Amino acid sequence: MHDTDITVPLLAITDLHLSIAGREVLRGIDLTIDAGETHVLLGPNGSGKTTLFNTLVGLPGYEVTQGSVAFKGENLLALTIDERARLGVGVAFQRPPAVRGVRLRQVMEVAAGGALEAGTLDAIAGELAVAPMLERDVNLGFSGGEAKRSEMAQLLAQQPELALFDEPESGVDLDNIAVVGGAIAHLLKGDRASERPRAGLIITHTGHILQYVNADVGHVLFDGRLACEGNPLDLIDDIVSHGYEGCVECAACRQ
Ligand SMILES: Nc1ncnc2c1ncn2[C@@H]1O[C@H](COP(=O)(O)OP(=O)(O)OP(=O)(O)O)[C@@H](O)[C@H]1O
Ligand SMILES: [Mg+2]
Repeated sequence: MHDTDITVPLLAITDLHLSIAGREVLRGIDLTIDAGETHVLLGPNGSGKTTLFNTLVGLPGYEVTQGSVAFKGENLLALTIDERARLGVGVAFQRPPAVRGVRLRQVMEVAAGGALEAGTLDAIAGELAVAPMLERDVNLGFSGGEAKRSEMAQLLAQQPELALFDEPESGVDLDNIAVVGGAIAHLLKGDRASERPRAGLIITHTGHILQYVNADVGHVLFDGRLACEGNPLDLIDDIVSHGYEGCVECAACRQ
């Protein structure tokens, strides 16, 4: 077991440089997330948000050329995907992959560490309306909203210390945004007696999800770096008004 060491940040990304197919996409990312904090990541299409997420998850194909990522003081980049998950990193993908032959219930049980009490499974299935999908191959033929709810069900089963959300509201209707947003808030607040507050990193373009989730800090990924840090809702308002190029808050940050 790894207990959280309160003397080190939960996640510390330092001067991270990363290339894909020979092109440098991330050019010096610095980001620290402490236990219990919720951060928001903004940035134009193609700026590298999903690339950063996938690197934290441990998907192959990304070449870290410089910098480090420490999670609870451990070198995250040296760990396999399952070691990272066991250590407490969870993810809800922008485009959740379908897995033939593996049912949603099985994934939730593995995510929970092998034992998921019937009452907990029922509570999660009820909260996210995934009961009809539990015995289906995970994400296979799921609608966009069903796939997002399935991702959230897996995260609620896993209870990761750091949960990464890549555009949790994309392709989700207004009713489902409320369900997904409520589940994220619930996960991050740790409502159940046995749960502690979790940390989160949420990618969003619209900020709709922030109607349901209180976020502490927003960051703007631009030109391969985190160009700005500020109140997430203020940043989104500014970007809506002025675009990423003209974002006043970003300009102030860059000075
Ligand atoms: N396997 C790959 N091969 C080549 N280029 C890639 C690959 N994966 C990602 N890229 C490129 O890296 C850049 C960053 O992509 P990424 O998906 O991280 O952007 P994003 O910020 O998540 O964008 P969006 O807001 O559209 O989701 C893009 O130019 C993308 O085409
Ligand atoms: Mg993306």
